[in-house]
Amino acid sequence: AKEPMRVLVTGAAGQIGYALVPMIARGVMLGADQPVILHMLDIPPAAEALNGVKMELVDAAFPLLKGVVATTDVVEACTGVNVAVMVGGFPRKEGMERKDVMSKNVSIYKGQASALEAHAAPNCKVLVVANPANTNALILKEFAPSIPERNVTCLTRLDHNRALGQISERLNVQVSDVKNVIIWGNHSSSQYPDVNHATVKTSSGDKPVRELVADDEWLNGEFITTVQQRGAAIIKARKFSSALSAASSACDHIRDWVLGTPEGTFVSMGVYSDGSYGVPAGLIYSFPVTCSGGEWKIVQGLPIDEFSRKKMDATAQELSEEKALAYSCLE
Ligand code: NAI
Repeated sequence: AKEPMRVLVTGAAGQIGYALVPMIARGVMLGADQPVILHMLDIPPAAEALNGVKMELVDAAFPLLKGVVATTDVVEACTGVNVAVMVGGFPRKEGMERKDVMSKNVSIYKGQASALEAHAAPNCKVLVVANPANTNALILKEFAPSIPERNVTCLTRLDHNRALGQISERLNVQVSDVKNVIIWGNHSSSQYPDVNHATVKTSSGDKPVRELVADDEWLNGEFITTVQQRGAAIIKARKFSSALSAASSACDHIRDWVLGTPEGTFVSMGVYSDGSYGVPAGLIYSFPVTCSGGEWKIVQGLPIDEFSRKKMDATAQELSEEKALAYSCLE
């Protein structure tokens, strides 16, 4: 039998946490044959709720779940973890300045970076979900210099999956037959959902999404804004932000990273830019990647047209500004 893997979920008493921890305990994230020990971190005001989640995990009697640590102590939470899913953060409240929210998150991610660096298992894989996800991940990377930069990522898989969902609905095809959409850039409304390399499996082979949809106006307009604004649409409908889809996408992100992407399929991950596609190095930017042997690799050589170039540059620009704002909070 496999040794259990330790998975940290921060902000585990929150909405996404409540949807995510049972998925992890059921093997959705790491596989049906992989035992797990859950480490759940939250802040003292949420300690009682966190303990309630722990009680429910015990009550659910998950066969793969070999232990649960529920704590408000960041060192205890980080100790020995193989995977860290960072969902905890400070939300933007009405009337708050961007800089104030950034400042709160910078200080949270700076502290948690140090704890992970000092106490996580070697080669721990980190996924930041909490917003601003790309910039929180960048701060975490900067303040955990001994964690390899390739191990620090942020979640744009939800946006990727939303794009797959929109194409599947539009064409009335199975979502599992649609692949290779790309989310470029920031997990924000400046992201660029790109279908230029996306295909749909048909009885006569894979066909380009552009050819099947045959409506460039929709693909270059409403499709893009729907994906960009989907988070806001969920809040409007549910009065709470996306939780089950965020949790499910976080599992997809880690599962593909650890267990690999299928041959010929790429997915979107926020990763540390090496300058690929002319994206400034030193940003956490969402790229198309393939994964194998526990490592991601940016898909190279995709042709980029002028429409895409502008949108990829605009979201990079926003990330550079966020990075500058984050650094100004450190001064
Ligand atoms: P929530 O407010 O329900 O839960 C957040 C939890 O984090 C709370 O329990 C809170 O006490 C905890 N927390 C706050 N500071 C903490 C700290 N320093 N250490 C540990 N825990 C801490 O929020 P929800 O809906 O679960 O969302 C979580 C985050 O995920 C938000 O930042 C949200 O914007 C982001 N998000 C990101 C998505 C993505 O695709 N990247 C999609 C949806 C949400």
